[in-house]
Amino acid sequence: MSNIKKEQPVGIFDSGIGGLTVAHAIKQMMPFENLIYFGDTAHLPYGDKSEAAIQAYSIKIADVLLKKNCKVIVIACNSASSAAYELLKEYVQHAVKVINVIDPMVEWVSQNFHDCSVGLIGTKRTVQSGIYAKKIQASNRNITLHSLPAPLLVPMIEEGFFNNKISRNIIEEYLRDPLLEKISALILGCTHYPLIKKEISDFYHDTIAVLDSSDVVARALYEYLSHAGLLNDQGRGTDHFLVSDFTDSFEASTKLFFHEAVHLEKHPLWN
Ligand code: DGL
Repeated sequence: MSNIKKEQPVGIFDSGIGGLTVAHAIKQMMPFENLIYFGDTAHLPYGDKSEAAIQAYSIKIADVLLKKNCKVIVIACNSASSAAYELLKEYVQHAVKVINVIDPMVEWVSQNFHDCSVGLIGTKRTVQSGIYAKKIQASNRNITLHSLPAPLLVPMIEEGFFNNKISRNIIEEYLRDPLLEKISALILGCTHYPLIKKEISDFYHDTIAVLDSSDVVARALYEYLSHAGLLNDQGRGTDHFLVSDFTDSFEASTKLFFHEAVHLEKHPLWN
């Protein structure tokens, strides 16, 4: 990693546009960084895909980001973090650092919720991987994790159903599951969920901590770049948003996730 310059862009990817919640947190914390975001809209959702398929897509995306000279790769997707992080690390070897969305959250939970019961909601891929449970157990902090797949939440959010009666009903249906009784905190294990964070907190009447990974991941990136001397502290912070398939509705939805509308450039994964 020795020849990397701080002016090189930060690469971020997700199955689609949900990872823009992480990109937004990164931009807020590090406004001078140049971002290259890749949303694999041709293959979303990842949450229902096999581990092998997600690994293949992730490798292709890493190739795109490396070709674009990214100095670090952030996997802004829980499903891809659980399926492809270890493989990606091996694949890029020492070319660049790979940061996932799971480890920073596990670290935060381990530091702040020892001896507690903690809940997790996420896609089927993320929950079935058992990766959060494995990593939390490895932290030895006596934390019991209760994980519930919530597959309807991603399509619900993408269809613009949040802060309304339908979303409240679906959210309640999941959160009433006995598995999630008596938890002290709930991990939002999917990069779409920050959009329904308030509804989830409302369900609990703010009595438990609702943990969204965007800020902790941005902080992990900040710490890595600072320690490595790679933090870009001046410049214009130019961003590019690539997608493997373009539709007007993807572009329209960017505003929800990134807090401002962005232009999406089509960049097929397979030429
Ligand atoms: N962004 C994905 C995640 O965080 C959810 C969307 C999908 O299933 O592709 O798991």
